[in-house]
Parts: sequence; C-alpha cells; structure tokens
Amino acid sequence: MLSPEENALLTHTGPGTPGGNLLRRHWHPVALVEEMPKDGAPLPVRIMSEDLVLFRGDDGQFGLLGQFCSHRRADLSYGRIEDGGLRCLYHGWLFDRQGRCIDQPCEPPDRRFCEKVKHPAYPCQERAGVVFAYMGPGEPPLLPNYEPLVAPAGHVLVSKFHHQCNFFQANEGNLDPSHVSYLHRQANVPENLKRTVTGSDGKLPLALYDADMAPRIDAEETDYGVRIFSLRNVDGRTFFRVTNYVFPNKATIPGPMSGDGYNLYWHVPIDDTHHWRYDFVFRRSAPMEQRDIERDKEILDELSPGYRPKRNKSNRYLQDREAMKSWSFSGMGRIFNVQDVAIVEGCGEIVDRSKEFLGPSDKAIIVARRQLLRAIREVEAGSEGPHVIRDSENNRFPQLTVESEVLSAGADWQEHWKERLKVLR
Ligand code: FES
Ligand SMILES: [Fe+2]
Repeated sequence: MLSPEENALLTHTGPGTPGGNLLRRHWHPVALVEEMPKDGAPLPVRIMSEDLVLFRGDDGQFGLLGQFCSHRRADLSYGRIEDGGLRCLYHGWLFDRQGRCIDQPCEPPDRRFCEKVKHPAYPCQERAGVVFAYMGPGEPPLLPNYEPLVAPAGHVLVSKFHHQCNFFQANEGNLDPSHVSYLHRQANVPENLKRTVTGSDGKLPLALYDADMAPRIDAEETDYGVRIFSLRNVDGRTFFRVTNYVFPNKATIPGPMSGDGYNLYWHVPIDDTHHWRYDFVFRRSAPMEQRDIERDKEILDELSPGYRPKRNKSNRYLQDREAMKSWSFSGMGRIFNVQDVAIVEGCGEIVDRSKEFLGPSDKAIIVARRQLLRAIREVEAGSEGPHVIRDSENNRFPQLTVESEVLSAGADWQEHWKERLKVLR
C-alpha cells in the first residue's frame, strides 16, 4: 500500500514532476524505425506529456523537436524536410536537429533574430530497429548496451503496443511471476510456443506454471534494478526462474525463448494515463527461427494500424465466455500481451495503490517501488540516480539475464545461482 503522494511520485512524468525528472535521466524509445521510412513525413510523438515531432533529416539522421513552431506555434509535423532540418510551412523558419533556428526567410534580412531562438530539441540514436531519445538535462549518458540492443540482426524482433493506462502499473505486471500461473493459462498451446524448459523432461513453461500456482518469490536489488527469483515445486524439484525489473521503466522475462535470450519490455509514458510498451524479443544462441517469426506475426495481427490492440476496452477485449469453459482461462485469445493489456487497463488509468492489499507474491513489486521512490528523491536532491551509464567500460550487462530451468533433484537454488553468476561475467 502506498500513500496518494507516493503514488503520484511513481506515476506522474510530465515536465517538472519528480518522476518525470527521474525518467528524463534515461534514454527511451520514441518510435520504431519502420514508422520512419526514408523520405517519409515527420511523425508527431507525445512522450512524457511533451508534444514532439520526429523526423529523418535529408542526411538520414533522426531529429526530435518540439511539435509547435517557436514562431507562432504552427504544427511542424506538416513541415518540409530540407536544407539540413525541418522547415515550418507557415513562414519558413528552419530548425536543425539541435533546435537552432537557421533561417527566417519572412523576416527582413537586416532584422533577423535566429540566434535568439532556441527550439526544444532532443538527441536521438537508432538501435535494433528503434529510435531512442534522451530528453533530460546536460550531457546525455550512454544508451545501455542491453543484449537485445546490440545483438546481431535477425536475433531480435521489435514491436510496440498502445496501453490506455499509466506506464508503471503495466511494468508491475512484468515483476509479478505468480500471475503467469493464472491469467495466461490456456490449453491448445500453439506449435510456435512449444519451446521446452531445460531440465524439465520436455515440459512446456505453461505446464510448469500450472504445476505450482503459488511460487515462492524472492527479490534482490542490483546495480541495474531488481533481480526476481520465482521458485515452483514440480514433482519435488525446483522450477527456477529469474526475471528482472530494469530501472526505471523496463523489465525482462523469459518469453517464448525459455531462457535462451529474453523479452525486454520498455514502458514509455505518452502521458500519465497512456503509454507505449516497446517489446524486444531476443534470442541469444541463434537468429530467430521461422516459428518465431510466425508467432510474432500472430501478435502483430492483434494490432490495428497505429499499434493499437484490436481487443480493447471499448469492445471488452472480445472476451469469449464459451472459450473460458474449455481452453482459455481469460477468454481473451491466445496472445499473452493482450491479456496483460486487459488486466492493467482494467485497474483504471492510474491504479489507486492506497487501496491495495499486498501479499508475499508481491515482494518484487514492493522492492521495485521502494527503489524507484528512493531514486526519485535522490534526483530531487541533485544526483542523477541509479543506472545512468557514463562509463563505456561498464556498459555491458552479462548478469542481466533471465533463467528458466528445472533444477536437478535436491539442488539448492541459491547455490545454483551463485555458480551461474560466476559464469555470467
Ligand atoms: S509559425 Fe512557424 S515560421 Fe511562423
Ligand atoms: Fe503477463
């Protein structure tokens, strides 16, 4: 349970808010590269309650500017991409990627005042098919070299899902290993999800989640966030899972790879009551197989144009009560992403955490909230907070990984993890 004040700290991210100040110390995805074809139109994007426009300059580089012109507020997303920047349609002011005004053709030549204009502008980088931006103060930190962001082409699939709710409650779903034993239960698992779990004698993850619905949860703080252990008893052996809260608005879960790589979910506020979840599905050992690409297509088929789920609040997620009697616990189709969206949107636009009743299964969420609240207060006090990467030597995360494995009979999970960590260097 949190006080309303603490809840506001965790969930409000507009300019000048303490939570927004903290999030702005980090790079965030702002668009998929597929949304930005060469010679395409500038794309209006709203991030953390700021209206912006993303464009690809005539040199191919991305720029992110305030959406409304510094002159008389015309919408720059209708502007022309030319002469090294974005030119406003109304009177032709030209802005470069740094937000400098470099032309004012409608002002008398002897009375131009370009040098006085500083238009909002944020640096961008492209990585893994996604455009990232840094919207904070000072020298940008390094974009973290998470494995999915630096993997060879073909090892990563990216997509995004629109959510009608605050970013933080959706990320809390990723920090909650017990719900996979419940919400996502379904029979008739599609062929393309049939990767078995190491050590399980050929069992699928869903069968193991089913075998013990009340996992023991442990959580420890790390330099990148919170490492979450979930332990299920399967015929006297331990089904051992490691997932992660990645500071401040990300998580990793095993996903369809069953431990060979992971899904990285990055929850980016549009405003306080809407957000994008950017999904990076990462396979470590080899490029994606045909079945992975087919599964990804099934997920994308759940989206309307604009990356909005076809099953949504307005149609009650097309919940099928007949399917609930036979093969689907939720009645909301096969795709986990959609089931998750339904639950986190159903809590309300910003969940009221003063009315919760938490239990032992919520341990990781409690640790992550505490860590984020502490960091918000640190940033308010003048520091830049945790997991801001500035040293290229330390820009690698071998210990940020997931595990999904049934341990051998009698094995102690803590000893097992200690040995694993020695290898993950
Ligand atoms: S409003 Fe953009 S140049 Fe005048
Ligand atoms: Fe889920």
